[in-house]
Amino acid sequence: MLPSALWFCIAILPISFATQQAPLHDSTPLLPKATSNELLYLHRKLVETVSTPEKEKKVGLWLKSYLEDKKFTVELQEVAPKRYNLLAYGKKRETPILVSSHIDTVPPFLPYYYNETSDVIGGRGSVDAKASVAAQIIAVQSLNQKLHDDISLLFVVGEETGGDGMRAFSALEDRPQYEVVIFGEPTEGKLVCGHKGILGFTITTSGKAAHSGYPWLGVSANDIMIEALGKLVRLREHLPWSEKYGNTTMNFGYISGGAAANVVAEKATAKIVTRIAAGTPKVLKGLIIDALKDVKAAAEDMGGGLDIEYMSEGFPPVDFDCGVNGFQEMTVNYGTDAPNLEGDHRRYLYGPGSIFVAHGDHEALKRRHLEQAVLDYRRLIIATSMMHGQEKERFEM
Ligand SMILES: *[C@@H]1O[C@H](CO)[C@@H](O)[C@H](O)[C@H]1NC(C)=O
Ligand SMILES: *[C@@H]1O[C@H](CO)[C@@H](O)[C@H](O)[C@H]1NC(C)=O
Repeated sequence: MLPSALWFCIAILPISFATQQAPLHDSTPLLPKATSNELLYLHRKLVETVSTPEKEKKVGLWLKSYLEDKKFTVELQEVAPKRYNLLAYGKKRETPILVSSHIDTVPPFLPYYYNETSDVIGGRGSVDAKASVAAQIIAVQSLNQKLHDDISLLFVVGEETGGDGMRAFSALEDRPQYEVVIFGEPTEGKLVCGHKGILGFTITTSGKAAHSGYPWLGVSANDIMIEALGKLVRLREHLPWSEKYGNTTMNFGYISGGAAANVVAEKATAKIVTRIAAGTPKVLKGLIIDALKDVKAAAEDMGGGLDIEYMSEGFPPVDFDCGVNGFQEMTVNYGTDAPNLEGDHRRYLYGPGSIFVAHGDHEALKRRHLEQAVLDYRRLIIATSMMHGQEKERFEM
């Protein structure tokens, strides 16, 4: 399907390859051979270079020299010792459009492979998010000079570990303000209209150790924890929800407590993450505190305790712009760096590959999906820049 607006783009832009979304089972090439080879080379170099948390230096420096070879001006921002964000641009530093993704990956490192028979490329980061990084760079290079010069590229560190890279960029004193920001994360080639918010917290309960034969001489931190988690399991059924994002979910991801079967437990810990479909972290905190207040009071009466510590301030659901011709749309349940970049910009979220394999042992995507992403980023940039142009015209009239 090729929406009429796209024929228009094709007509006005000097481009060397088609921009419509081709069927993925078709074997006709999506990109010119040289472009496809460059894409594969860039993607392979990125995936082969380890960039698990705190080890992002090498990939950052490699990418800097790659982009400089392609005539970008590249600024490094030191987020922490040996961890750099990259900001790259053409003729000018102030651009209306920012295209961004992250260069860190989750651990452990998994080696790169490309199986030509199955058309599958795998390895750590092959999807999340080095597929986005590679496709974005190739897409921007394929644009005409004027549009190319309207775009900056930002590749941040620390996305997988709390977003310190994007926060540091956001806080830069001389940071340009953008009108459009396109974020790259695995979205299966669809445009994401929003993602859930998040609130993570740790519950710690304390008691008093004793011999298990004489439990009344102690206070069981595990008993307190079980009561608390029971309350949360019931609360979980009544959390805020929305049409757009579905239910707020609560995952008891890690529970530990006590020392041995024959000892009354002195301490227990549970780490919990909620994915917020409606309301704010503040509302959720209120619900959690309310659900646990009786357990906490009873624990304190017995000489034990219950404390809640939040992993960060969290964020509410994050809406993205969507409604670009020719893109399928969806919402997702994972978080991104998007809320860490402050400013009054329109924002889009798109990327190749699936989140369902992103952090697993079999992280991989089809070469064809990677190529399709180059075409899709092009279409997205062209479509959003045309909206930008139209707005400007209206403004000037
Ligand atoms: C490549 O993919 C084909 C088809 O799925 C499979 O039969 C083959 O074993 C794969 N090769 C390797 C080296 O994994
Ligand atoms: C939301 O939760 C309700 C009640 O627990 C359940 O019936 C419903 O299927 C859930 N909706 C989704 C989209 O998961």
